[in-house]
Amino acid sequence: MISIVLIGTGNVARHLLDTFRLYQEIRVVQVLGRNEKNLAYFREFSKTSSDFEKLLPADLYIIAVSDDAIPSVSQLIRNKNGIVVHTSGSVSLDVLSKYDHRGVFYPLQTFSKERKIDFKNVPICLESNQREDMELLKTLAHHISEQVYEISFQQRRSLHLAAVFVNNFTNHLYQIGNRICEENKVSFDILEPLILETAHKIKDLSPHDAQTGPAKRGDKRTIKQHMEVLGNSGYRKIYELLSQSIEREYSEWIENPYLPDRGIEKK
Ligand SMILES: NC(=O)c1ccc[n+]([C@@H]2O[C@H](COP(=O)([O-])OP(=O)(O)OC[C@H]3O[C@@H](n4cnc5c(N)ncnc54)[C@H](OP(=O)(O)O)[C@@H]3O)[C@@H](O)[C@H]2O)c1
Repeated sequence: MISIVLIGTGNVARHLLDTFRLYQEIRVVQVLGRNEKNLAYFREFSKTSSDFEKLLPADLYIIAVSDDAIPSVSQLIRNKNGIVVHTSGSVSLDVLSKYDHRGVFYPLQTFSKERKIDFKNVPICLESNQREDMELLKTLAHHISEQVYEISFQQRRSLHLAAVFVNNFTNHLYQIGNRICEENKVSFDILEPLILETAHKIKDLSPHDAQTGPAKRGDKRTIKQHMEVLGNSGYRKIYELLSQSIEREYSEWIENPYLPDRGIEKK
């Protein structure tokens, strides 16, 4: 049995609790949060407290709070023997340096409270300063996921940076697309099959091979037309920057369309 105290009441804490409670081998003995109101959801499944002095003993303390709050919140865990980990993709293990037993338990997925996630498909990236602590983290991670990776801080940070591009920025581009549709009174739903196919096709093609569109083809007239429609809005700058980046990626091919495609087959 692995006993856990969860610290934080946000998206990640909620998803971790919902997952851990499915396994007999894992017990969330307490959830700590600064805000009593936000602890309400957790009360049904675990003891809760907003008083960090009342921290219970556990094998593992998982700090799932905003990145910037990890250093100050970690200072509140006193006189405990368990391993202290955080769940961030971009915060170093060193912020927990006052603990002999420290680590990182980073689930690489986008979590929103409103969406259920099957943790079996969530890659979990682990780091620890002690071999035996890594073994416990791996045991826990293997209970809930089929994808467990022991990776360095530099690798985790790079994955998080890449994730910002492929997830956060992509979603922001959905928002822009949605707004353009609203302004022109056409349903955003019509774009849904395109959005889904864009995501699904990278299972078979590399991102390089999967690219289509005016910037890849070098269709300058279409690009000019789109820029005119966008006028002086901030979206125009985004369109221009992304188009230039795509053009650079394919410049050789645009200048000489008869070159064989230099893309690398994914499978
Ligand atoms: N969401 C994701 O997709 C995702 C994925 C992987 C990893 N992560 C990482 O997981 C961690 C938590 O992310 P999240 O999405 O769960 O964040 P979130 O939903 O915004 O929740 C943040 C939590 O941090 C607490 N908090 C913030 N400042 C605090 C402070 N000074 N003292 C005590 N508690 C404080 C908040 O408390 P209040 O509710 O009282 O404000 C809240 O419980 C972050 O390190 C993030 O990088 C997130």
